[in-house]
Amino acid sequence: MAKFLIGHYCFLIYNLIMKKIRVSLSEKGYFIYMGYPLEKLGHMLTENRYGKKVMLLTDTNVFPFYGNMVKKILVKSGKDVFDVLVKPGEQSKNLRKVCEVIENCARNKMSRDSILLTLGGGVISDLGGFISSIYMRGINYIPVPTTLLAQVDASIGGKTGVNLPFGKNLVGSFYQPSFVYVDFNLLSTLPEKEIKQGFSEIIKYGIIKSKKLFGILSSIHISGEKVLMYNQLKEILPTLIEKSIMIKKTVVEKDEKETKGLREILNFGHTLGHAIEISHFPEMTHGDSVALGMVGESYLSYKLGLCKKEVYTSIKELVKKFGLPFSYSQIKIKKCIGTLIYDKKVKDGKIRFVLVKRIGCVKSGVVVEKVQVEKILREIQKDEKT
Ligand SMILES: NC(=O)c1ccc[n+]([C@@H]2O[C@H](COP(=O)([O-])OP(=O)(O)OC[C@H]3O[C@@H](n4cnc5c(N)ncnc54)[C@H](O)[C@@H]3O)[C@@H](O)[C@H]2O)c1
Ligand SMILES: [Zn+2]
Repeated sequence: MAKFLIGHYCFLIYNLIMKKIRVSLSEKGYFIYMGYPLEKLGHMLTENRYGKKVMLLTDTNVFPFYGNMVKKILVKSGKDVFDVLVKPGEQSKNLRKVCEVIENCARNKMSRDSILLTLGGGVISDLGGFISSIYMRGINYIPVPTTLLAQVDASIGGKTGVNLPFGKNLVGSFYQPSFVYVDFNLLSTLPEKEIKQGFSEIIKYGIIKSKKLFGILSSIHISGEKVLMYNQLKEILPTLIEKSIMIKKTVVEKDEKETKGLREILNFGHTLGHAIEISHFPEMTHGDSVALGMVGESYLSYKLGLCKKEVYTSIKELVKKFGLPFSYSQIKIKKCIGTLIYDKKVKDGKIRFVLVKRIGCVKSGVVVEKVQVEKILREIQKDEKT
């Protein structure tokens, strides 16, 4: 009886947070199963379009935590699973790795109806999503994101790709998944540093579209060590993840392939962010670079007269509160400016920024000359000292 009650209670709790969110697109819409427990993943794979063969693509950090569990679930639902493990981190997001994994697809006789299931953070979903889009001109792709950043951002929206030494995500595709499966509990093993990375993108969503989300983030009390862990944030994380997913999916629905200039707003903090990430590799991770990018781009906004100084300071304070980098003192500005030209928003050699007007409202397509960006970044370094 007690067991039944506990089971029943768990079921009720899950039902409260389990949400099936539809991403409606002109060609291929899909669902995000949010807050679903891993155990239910097998039920989602019974449709005819899914063949028997599944490649489980993950990294060597994630596999020991969840790899065997996922394999067991898939085998139980009648799948023939094989795993491919790559080294963790950005170093695996390259064309060499793409070729290696694709050869593995062929060696294992994957066909058009096979599934490539990614279990990992944004590196794994970007890599696996890209491979799914090109192997046999497209196979079923199912991301199971295991980092906060991937749950709120990287696994949604259909952008896949890998890096070149010149810049981030320079080779890639738009390729929508069959569905996305978000189990919050997978975040329980995530180190604090990685939770922070996710907060960087959540802060971005607040800045571009939701004063309310920015307000919630500002009201979270943080003090002491190791407070940004899953267990400490368990109550608030589902709300933050849902709000972020809703913002991203709404923007993507309006401009799936970034042709209408609407999706560009998701790149707030990313023009400088990508330049910092690539010019300071491997010290600066994606989330860290985006955090610094948001500070820099809000300073740029203030200096160009688009927003008040308070907007810049409130963004900087929030970034600082979540333990993310906020100072330009260690940034090699010349090197960073040198890589800006490879940004995908560059048109006719002109750098285009998404800048902030006020919290919840940004302006895209703002052209700023390279020399001016450099000058303003040097000013921010001076400003920090005063
Ligand atoms: N396609 C998109 O729209 C999009 C959006 C945002 C970011 N990205 C890309 O995502 C990447 C960054 O993603 P990320 O921050 O998730 O990095 P990541 O995939 O490198 O994961 C970060 C680290 O966490 C470890 N890890 C993952 N899940 C874990 C878990 N549950 N428990 C313990 N350890 C775990 C990984 O092994 C890795 O060491 C970048 O390459 C960025 O360009 C893509
Ligand atoms: Zn990002």
